[in-house]
Amino acid sequence: MRKLPLEKQLPQVSDLVFGCMGLGGDWDPKSAITADHIKIAHQAVDAALAIGINLFDHADIYTSGKAEKVFAKILKQRPELQREIYIQSKCAIRFADEQYPGRYDTSPTWLNHSIDGILNRLQVEHIDVLLLHRPDPLMDAEEIAQTLKAIKASGKVSHFGVSNMHLHQIQLLNHYLDEPLLINQLEINLQKLDWLEEGVLAGNTQGSHVNFTSGTLEYCQMNNLQVQSWGSLCQGLFSGRDLSEQPESVVKTAQLVQSLAHKYQTTCESIILAWLMRHPARVQPVIGTTQAARIKACGAASEIMQQLTRDDWYSLYVTARGQALP
Ligand SMILES: NC(=O)c1ccc[n+]([C@@H]2O[C@H](COP(=O)([O-])OP(=O)(O)OC[C@H]3O[C@@H](n4cnc5c(N)ncnc54)[C@H](OP(=O)(O)O)[C@@H]3O)[C@@H](O)[C@H]2O)c1
Repeated sequence: MRKLPLEKQLPQVSDLVFGCMGLGGDWDPKSAITADHIKIAHQAVDAALAIGINLFDHADIYTSGKAEKVFAKILKQRPELQREIYIQSKCAIRFADEQYPGRYDTSPTWLNHSIDGILNRLQVEHIDVLLLHRPDPLMDAEEIAQTLKAIKASGKVSHFGVSNMHLHQIQLLNHYLDEPLLINQLEINLQKLDWLEEGVLAGNTQGSHVNFTSGTLEYCQMNNLQVQSWGSLCQGLFSGRDLSEQPESVVKTAQLVQSLAHKYQTTCESIILAWLMRHPARVQPVIGTTQAARIKACGAASEIMQQLTRDDWYSLYVTARGQALP
């Protein structure tokens, strides 16, 4: 059995994470949470629990705070859940307002304001993990370390991680932190392939367009940092979405995913996730669908990951990149 890097801090954490970005309706802060939003959230959480998921990924910005608020309603109706699941949220992105553009903020004032807002919307006193959502050019690592230490001491958060950061930013933060960061959540999947291209095109002119910081995955592996993937299902691109406007490589990849689903007697979703999880970084995919049937379709991913052959893994990779490897 493969163990995830964060298993020590979050015992028996699931191989998959449920991403709550789609809960709570639209992103208009003025629109209200409806009975329908609550029903969808209940069904999605039920489906996630049914396939063994016990880590739920939030962010203070998701649907302008309504994702966390809707989740609070579920926790209120089912208080036992709080003992059975892990909750993760993110902060440091600020929406544009009348005066200023959308921006990032890792100042002590904003971080403290954010964690209090998260706990308030979720109606809990503590969450398991808090991630810094995006790298802030003005981040002062020493100041962040002191702030996170105080937040942890207050009992509001147990562990910290980051999202969308490269190894140098993580190294900088870790230099000042008492406890190393636990998680890095990145956009890596079967469609956005730069995380693999960076390695296979090292020193090759074909790699000049690649946008993924060299060594980030290796750093995470060497330092037992959990890599989580967002966009893990590629927004349905290879599992049923309309492909009429898509390039040939996407159409061929979707066909291959379907034929592998047939070969392994599983679903397209489980093939796509198993492909991600097969990487030695022990990727923990975050799935963002709100549809119970699609969540259920992800349920065989761990099992398929153990069966997926090297050759099939490469067939998917090469088909998705649209040309032979150098
Ligand atoms: N750290 C970050 O910066 C960051 C950024 C974005 C997201 N995230 C996290 O990662 C999670 C997943 O990300 P994601 O939502 O971008 O990726 P995803 O899981 O690849 O895609 C989910 C989206 O694709 C749609 N979808 C899935 N299968 C479909 C199909 N067959 N046909 C049509 N639509 C389909 C879903 O709609 P339905 O709900 O209708 O199925 C949903 O809107 C989020 O919930 C969030 O927790 C993190």
